[in-house]
Amino acid sequence: MSADDAELRAALSAVVEPELGRSLGELGMVRAVRSRRRAVEVTLALPTEPWPVADELAGRVRLALGPGAGGEDAVSVQFSPMSDEERAHLKAALASPPGGEPGGPNRFMAPGSRTRLVGISSGKGGVGKSSVAVNLAVALAASGQEVGLLDADVYGFSVPRMLGVDRRPTAIDDLLVPPVVHGVRCLSMGYFVPDDQPVIWRGPMLHKALEQFLVDAYWGEPDFLLIDMPPGTGDVALSLGQYLPRTEIVVVTTPQPAAQRVAQRSAFAARHLKLPVRGVIENLSWFTGSDGTRYELFGAGGGQALAESLDVPLLARIPLVPEVREGADVGVPVRVSDPHGEAAAAFDALAEAVLALGPARIYRSELKVR
Ligand SMILES: Nc1ncnc2c1ncn2[C@@H]1O[C@H](COP(=O)(O)OP(=O)(O)O)[C@@H](O)[C@H]1O
Ligand SMILES: [Mg+2]
Repeated sequence: MSADDAELRAALSAVVEPELGRSLGELGMVRAVRSRRRAVEVTLALPTEPWPVADELAGRVRLALGPGAGGEDAVSVQFSPMSDEERAHLKAALASPPGGEPGGPNRFMAPGSRTRLVGISSGKGGVGKSSVAVNLAVALAASGQEVGLLDADVYGFSVPRMLGVDRRPTAIDDLLVPPVVHGVRCLSMGYFVPDDQPVIWRGPMLHKALEQFLVDAYWGEPDFLLIDMPPGTGDVALSLGQYLPRTEIVVVTTPQPAAQRVAQRSAFAARHLKLPVRGVIENLSWFTGSDGTRYELFGAGGGQALAESLDVPLLARIPLVPEVREGADVGVPVRVSDPHGEAAAAFDALAEAVLALGPARIYRSELKVR
């Protein structure tokens, strides 16, 4: 291999695979790279065919090799399927932290993992819980955090549509890899429910399903795993309390004082399950008219009052902005479609407040100081 080829191979190995979030070198996806005269030919090994982000991957490869190859057009990318051994290697790489020892596909579950699990809850539906979860996830990702979002609202299932997820998770043998959209790895329990059938989830079913969504799917070790919880006090909180006692809870409410009591119940339920309630988010706080006047359409003070009664901070007040709903309907979150607008600013402030809180300190009897 010439020096040039070695350089090309190094540049290619460093390219990050969009769906898996790891380098092609680590994943063992580089099969061949050859430069002949003015063209560079790359062959990548794919874990499954079709590979959902093959075009994006090829684009990244062309972008990375273009400068050395005399232009992106000079780089051609071909794909071929992985062998069983290559797939096993790839799965082992996914189960290990970059450069480290294997720890399982879901390192976020291990004690001491850096992942903050944050359950977004509300007393009732329609207060904007999913809108907050989606835009908070995008805002955190935009600030450089690695973010997963689990839609566990089995009665809502709105997260994939709101985030703009247009494909199902990819199965690499028995490992389910949720797609990454707008920097957020997202999995919904809704994928596994037929569209036109009402589902009545009983506690044990939900418990099993949630376990599966957390254990069988690939999440790696993101900085945040946000969980859009079903409204109310129910079973998902119970299951989270059992599987993931590190889960922190934030409560979304609306400004009218009457909404408080309903929201409070979900906070009390979380506390009963020993999940720490970290803060309150008030949504639909005001609407800014074209003359700049703020109209408090749904009253005022509900978020602050709830925060005080729970003795936690009010993390953010999110205005009512028509683009929030429009973005949700077309699958482009407002934090993406209008990153400098009023709503985006509120979600950025929320992301900062969540980061500033730091992880909850939770006493766990299995942790001992030696
Ligand atoms: N801040 C906001 N501004 C404008 N529309 C909003 C806002 N928050 C939520 N919505 C809209 O209100 C409706 C309910 O919000 P959603 O997030 O689905 O609530 P929940 O998950 O609590 O049921 C959706 O149509 C959503 O787009
Ligand atoms: Mg919802």
